[in-house]
Amino acid sequence: MNILVTGGAGFIGSNFIRHMLENYDYKIVNLDLLTYAGNLKNLEDIDTDSRYHFVKGDICDRKLLKEIFCEFDINVVINFAAESHVDRSIEEPEIFLRTNVLGTQALLDTAKQYWKLDPNNKYSREFKEEVKFIQISTDEVYGTLGAEGYFTEETNISPNSPYSASKASADMIVRAYYETYGFPINITRCSNNYGPYQFPEKLIPLMINNALHNRTLPVYGDGKQIRDWLHVKDHCIAIDAVMHKGRIGEVYNIGGNNEKTNLEIVKLILKVLGKSEELIKFVKDRPGHDRRYAIDNSKITRELGWSPSITFEQGIIETIQWYLENQNWMEEIVSGNYMEYYKRMYPNKIMTSIREVIVDTFDEVASSKYE
Ligand code: NAD
Ligand code: TYD
Repeated sequence: MNILVTGGAGFIGSNFIRHMLENYDYKIVNLDLLTYAGNLKNLEDIDTDSRYHFVKGDICDRKLLKEIFCEFDINVVINFAAESHVDRSIEEPEIFLRTNVLGTQALLDTAKQYWKLDPNNKYSREFKEEVKFIQISTDEVYGTLGAEGYFTEETNISPNSPYSASKASADMIVRAYYETYGFPINITRCSNNYGPYQFPEKLIPLMINNALHNRTLPVYGDGKQIRDWLHVKDHCIAIDAVMHKGRIGEVYNIGGNNEKTNLEIVKLILKVLGKSEELIKFVKDRPGHDRRYAIDNSKITRELGWSPSITFEQGIIETIQWYLENQNWMEEIVSGNYMEYYKRMYPNKIMTSIREVIVDTFDEVASSKYE
């Protein structure tokens, strides 16, 4: 297989590339724009592997996409590339629509053109063999749950944040390509991930980093919002199963069977690090904050034999340990050093200026929540 992984320099994409190279002999092309969230340090241990190729670029760049498909004869696309942080989407919704919706559509169009056996015949629904487009979506497209119940693949799509609305929109256009053109797709909708290489704007690495530096831990609202946490390695194994065995056209939910309140998570991190709960600071709630997410895994378990393998008790200890052992990785991000490195490595004026316009610096976003 020749797999195009988009957004492979981010948290889940980098873990997925590592998982694939460890388990298969496939060629992997990583297309990543290296926004504030993309970090080539996440892939340092594999960047000399001859099966791995990195391309810096934008999933909205159709000319580049066409070149990549032709040069590497791509037959599987796994679309991780996205603006992924809810708090940023509240501040700056437009870039979420650009990347998450229009970027997905550019990828779909390019793959359709390249994979269709008779690209000029609009009625033909025949594609090359063994090709597939996998859209990495999120449980957040379903909106929020009350105290009872779970998200199934049949739950209504009802997104509440600009981030989840952009992901839901992408799901809709992916689905439409399947219905209209017979284009071979799967959509996966996973719950909150944790593990190594997660950008420290997200709950778990943010709290670990703040606790290590004796900074306050900003808990939104009452801290009783519930998320269903899954180790990123289990997510990667689930995507692997969908890629190899998923029925064309199907959506698969992926979850950890592991509901925790934010406050439980924060207190656990403090306990493991031996820090005082006095570091917790309740701050103003996130606007439109979803109360509870919880996934019903029964479809992927029944059809593909997947279920989570890493217990939260084991996974969170290993994760905290990883951040303790990789404090340089964290420091480079928080100080912004890695962005300076990219400016030197990739002095492409257009890319740099787009990035500077569309993303705030880590520090600006981190400090805004204390206002
Ligand atoms: P991330 O923010 O860590 O990584 C996103 C990557 O996409 C970065 O490397 C970034 O540089 C790249 N990117 C952004 N815009 C791009 C563009 N226009 N062209 C090319 N590359 C671009 O995100 P993540 O947490 O690894 O999430 C990956 C995917 O999984 C996303 O689609 C997200 O919606 C989905 N997801 C995440 C979670 C989670 O808990 N993190 C859960 C469910 C689903
Ligand atoms: P986050 O990691 O941003 O993921 P998502 O919003 O996609 O679920 O947040 C997880 C939960 O933690 C969410 O309920 C918001 C909460 N949260 C805080 O209370 N404080 C913080 O500083 C952050 C980043 C998140």
